[in-house]
Amino acid sequence: MEPGNVLYIVVCAAGAAGDVGRLVTLAQDDGWAVQIVATPPALDFIDVPALERQTGRPVRSQYRKPYEPRPPRADVIIVAPATYNTINKFAQGIADTYALGLLAEAPGLGIPVVVLPFVNTAFASRDPFRRSVETLRAEGIPVLLGPGRFEPHPPGAGGEILEAYPWALALREIEQHRPR
Ligand SMILES: Cc1cc2nc3c(=O)[nH]c(=O)nc-3n(C[C@H](O)[C@H](O)[C@H](O)COP(=O)(O)O)c2cc1C
Repeated sequence: MEPGNVLYIVVCAAGAAGDVGRLVTLAQDDGWAVQIVATPPALDFIDVPALERQTGRPVRSQYRKPYEPRPPRADVIIVAPATYNTINKFAQGIADTYALGLLAEAPGLGIPVVVLPFVNTAFASRDPFRRSVETLRAEGIPVLLGPGRFEPHPPGAGGEILEAYPWALALREIEQHRPR
């Protein structure tokens, strides 16, 4: 992985996670080298061997052992699909998984992060969630939620909107932060 073009995709346990290979394809077409980082529950939603073949890299969901070599540093990070749980924890600064640990440090390290939620209207209407979105935006982290971006779906209807999930939007947003 050449420094300067390393894209980490943090995948959370939401309906769209099974399609994250679509984002990998789009990113690779744009010249990114992709590292998939899954939250622990997301491992049940994704096809790990298929993603490892596609990226040529192990899917990571745990911190390395102290004696293992450091993986290539992320130049940019996309969180997609981003769950209610991970968005709230990221905004609160919680770092109790490898994925959240990466996100907790990224802003302080100057690594751009873009968040593409996948939440239903019940999650999206909660005050804690709205505050988290505001908190992240106030830190300069784009959360692609709202008209023309990701629109929350009615509870139970996530499966019906998978085709419309705007993976490419996250890629366009992060492209602005590509090191030149
Ligand atoms: C089948 C299924 C679908 C789910 N879909 C979503 C979803 O679309 N959005 C969401 O925020 N949570 C969804 N959840 C709940 C999350 O998986 C759960 O909150 C989990 O703890 C999130 O963990 P993570 O944020 O570490 O990935 C779903 C759970 C299941 C079992």
